Amino acid sequence: MSQPTIESILHEGRVFNPPAAFSQQAYIKSLEEYQQLFDRAKANPTKFWEDLATKELHWFEKWHTVLDWQPPFAKWFDGGKINISYNCLDRHLTTWRKNKAALIWEGEPGDSRTLTYAQLHREVCQFANVLKHLGVQKGDVVGIYMPMIPEAAIAMLACARIGAAHTVVFGGFSAEALRDRLIDGKATAVITADGGWRKDAIVPLKDQVDKALADGVVPTVKNVLVVERTKQGVHMESGRDHWWHELQKQASADCPAEPMNSEDLLFVLYTSGSTGKPKGVVHTTGGYNLYTHMTTKWVFDIQDTDVYWCTADVGWITGHSYIVYGPLSNGATTLMYEGAPRASNPGCFWDVIEKYGVTVFYTAPTAIRAFIKMGEEHPNARDLSSLRLLGTVGEPINPEAWMWYHRVIGGERCPIVDTWWQTETGGHMITSLPGAVPTKPGSATFPFPGILADVVDLDGNSVGTNEGGYLVVRHPWPGMMRTVFGDDDRFRRTYWEHIAPVDGQYLYFAGDGARRDEDGYFWIMGRVDDVINVSGHRLGTMEIESALVSHPAVAEAAVVGKPDELKGEEIVAFVTLEGTAAPNDDLVKALKQHVVGEIGALARPAEIRFSDALPKTRSGKIMRRLLRNLASGQEVSGDTSTLEDRSVLDKLREGS
Ligand code: WT7
Repeated sequence: MSQPTIESILHEGRVFNPPAAFSQQAYIKSLEEYQQLFDRAKANPTKFWEDLATKELHWFEKWHTVLDWQPPFAKWFDGGKINISYNCLDRHLTTWRKNKAALIWEGEPGDSRTLTYAQLHREVCQFANVLKHLGVQKGDVVGIYMPMIPEAAIAMLACARIGAAHTVVFGGFSAEALRDRLIDGKATAVITADGGWRKDAIVPLKDQVDKALADGVVPTVKNVLVVERTKQGVHMESGRDHWWHELQKQASADCPAEPMNSEDLLFVLYTSGSTGKPKGVVHTTGGYNLYTHMTTKWVFDIQDTDVYWCTADVGWITGHSYIVYGPLSNGATTLMYEGAPRASNPGCFWDVIEKYGVTVFYTAPTAIRAFIKMGEEHPNARDLSSLRLLGTVGEPINPEAWMWYHRVIGGERCPIVDTWWQTETGGHMITSLPGAVPTKPGSATFPFPGILADVVDLDGNSVGTNEGGYLVVRHPWPGMMRTVFGDDDRFRRTYWEHIAPVDGQYLYFAGDGARRDEDGYFWIMGRVDDVINVSGHRLGTMEIESALVSHPAVAEAAVVGKPDELKGEEIVAFVTLEGTAAPNDDLVKALKQHVVGEIGALARPAEIRFSDALPKTRSGKIMRRLLRNLASGQEVSGDTSTLEDRSVLDKLREGS
């Protein structure tokens, strides 16, 4: 089993104490120290965050209000003037860090590049001027659709520097998905590359941008900036498209950071929910800067000697918070890798760790499970002794994978931080602090100081020890999303009304199930809504259904997740066809390809099953629970009395 089951984690009795040598030099050195911090933050969260904001960040002007909470809308450090690119770059230039490696890049195939803080600052300033000269203004939204190359980070920081918001779209998303996001965000420019390297092949990013912008459907986009990466030759539309390197070399390196209001928009990042349309998660400047700074510092215990590597893509929140902003705000060395583990190069991650002496390594359980399968001879053949801390993110980690990570990669000496958080939370929420908290394989342990997390029933009451419930947060925190871009109502409905506010007490509803054990440890049980998690990527079942029904042969579709050993979950689609369409292998292929075209390869269904009808309640709701049972080959469990037509179930069962 890949997902931790209740049985497996109830029997999980192993506890791993932080190694003494680690604790001694860590920021937070003991459980008592964590407890004190936690208690102090809980007693007065506003004071706790205010003190840290004063001590840890540079502000051009001080705020007038630390927290303005008009549920569910929060403002942090309102009136304060700040620029996150200043905190990530300029302030390090007056210290010895000026010539320290800020960004180490390991590209494919075999390229590499290191930028010091001074060099990164220069590139960012120049590119900020490029954007300005093209007319990009404070308050504009800029689309970024890039491979994992330094220019992706430079583009993000340059936007932040001039006060333009970025919306990074993962390079694996299709032209359709890119178009939807550019339209919703009203983007005025797009930054891309001619192509990117992905698993030994070129991803034609610029072609996709051309498709997304075809026929003038995104009239707001005036300029497209193109990094020359793969040199395979691309169409350049005159007046609209510009080569990055041509404009960059003419641009001045003098570009002071724009003083932004703490609550000015920093970025919009789209994520899937339980409805058809991805939502634009809005993050603002000051609170996000503070929250990613503090979580990077304490959770990764970032020291000046660290070489820190997070394997995520900058297209996801993990890349935003823990490749770019958090590490650079701390003056750390952050590593960026363009490659991905694959059968043709099963040791690539371990090569990178050995080559650069990586000390802190952060990856996803799905990657760990893939490595287990490839065999431990690959990591064993490399020198991984530089590692001192390991992290995981994206989905629950099964105890077997945790133990392998601990033993084979961590050499039994590295603490593991299992970090639970979301695009919406901006940064880590439930995670151990590595020098302080004893870990249990499969548990994300305790909330970060200042985070008042709880497990509750639908009325908002805390549930008992080892009882399952909904994961919520009881107090606003600086890194929280501020709204859904352009849709305050959806923000309120999605996150704050599932559990009705009692006496004006609003609870943030995360969409995950959880349980706390007798020691207070949190165990995350996975999504409780129609969101599935495939290889750590979050997908809405309705989004995939909409893609399927947009194909002319499809009448109706229902998508569910099926447990998978490597990916966590796999996509299974149940489809009914329009009158004349015939269910055959070619149609299966065509429908899978159609979903890839609408969303991207990450949403490709593993299985498509045809049927005459879908199981529905008398009020017409598809009973996904039954489909989930069928997809995973389990007996149909629970109540089926509300099923409208019982014969549907028998037919579906026969068909499978
Ligand atoms: C969902 C958020 C946060 C960056 C990556 C994904 C699941 C995330 C864990 C973890 C158990 C986890 C949750 C969450 N998740 N980390 N350590 N243990 N589940 O961000 O795409 O916004 O997805 O990922 O279900 O709600 P995201």
